Amino acid sequence: MAREKKYNAIITALGMYFPDKVLDNKYFESIVDTTDEWIVTRTGIKERRMIENGATSDLATGAAKDLMETHNVKPEEIDCIIVATVTPDMLFPATACIVQNNIGASNAWGFDIEAACSGFLFAFQTGCSFIESGQCKKVLVIGADKMTSITDYTERNNCILFGDGGAAVLLEPTEDKSLGLQDYILRIDGSGEKYLNMKGGGSLNPPTHETVDKKMHYIFQDGKAVFKVAVKGMADVSFELMQKNNLTSDDVAYLVPHQANMRIIDATAERMGLNKDKVMVNIDRYGNTTAATIPSCLVEYYRAGKVKKGDKIILSAFGAGYTWGSTLVVWAID
Ligand code: COA
Repeated sequence: MAREKKYNAIITALGMYFPDKVLDNKYFESIVDTTDEWIVTRTGIKERRMIENGATSDLATGAAKDLMETHNVKPEEIDCIIVATVTPDMLFPATACIVQNNIGASNAWGFDIEAACSGFLFAFQTGCSFIESGQCKKVLVIGADKMTSITDYTERNNCILFGDGGAAVLLEPTEDKSLGLQDYILRIDGSGEKYLNMKGGGSLNPPTHETVDKKMHYIFQDGKAVFKVAVKGMADVSFELMQKNNLTSDDVAYLVPHQANMRIIDATAERMGLNKDKVMVNIDRYGNTTAATIPSCLVEYYRAGKVKKGDKIILSAFGAGYTWGSTLVVWAID
């Protein structure tokens, strides 16, 4: 999409926070009818993290503090905080407000975005718009979820998939149009609502004894149905974004896929013609952390020295809604 932009939005700092407690596949063997072998072959997950004392704001705050400490960013410099999450501390106030207070970002405004597993991409796009228009100079975009708070640990299909975590990026402007956000394709399709949702606790089914008895405060997922559309959605949109920008697989340095299932990741990479070494993966250690998957991959690969200035990186996700999309970014940090 050709758009007149004053600036390009670039990532200038990154941070992440994962709690210490590990839930490995052996643990799941002890609580539901499953095996380490089944989980690894069907999902690629070996372990995930769980926050024992704390909420999503603690994961988000941990990520923000890690970012500020490692990149020497002062809280009062931040103009705007956007938190992508499906597990806000409370329905209101926004988790962004709690983070703002925790880190002392005295000059910031902010809000939450809910787009499930695509949350980081939608929040990233929103943050970039504030930078591109010149409205903000420093936007903190955080993806954080305490998925263990909405997971039914008696249900083997879903409980093995999810974990807790948070990760953040800082967006700033540059006049160099060859860097930062270049293009995106984002989509929603509400006809997918019935396959992946949490029915209780909102205005449709306010919490009652009955909603709790019916386990409506947990994730509901028709895994097989979601799997099929996730594969198609992520692969199609990533391929379309490459075509739209005349990119071959040689041009793409990395795919950063949402980490829901290793088989979905592999199918997306295959459609894009990318070898495994061009795909960022941390699903084996953290499982599906919803809004935190993409930014935490970026943090880990950046810190391992695997990303360099000028690299063309495609971020891609699929999640409840349905929501999905792909975003093309050129890495700007030396
Ligand atoms: N351990 C052992 N067996 C399990 C199991 C587990 N943890 N979970 C499911 N099974 C069983 C099923 O009961 C089924 O048994 P049956 O054939 O006797 O009925 C069998 O394994 C196959 O189930 P199926 O649902 O076809 O497995 P799958 O290969 O599709 O994998 C998911 C299940 C949930 C891992 C997979 O569907 C998935 O990843 N879905 C999409 C998740 C996603 O991307 N979400 C969107 C973004 S959040």
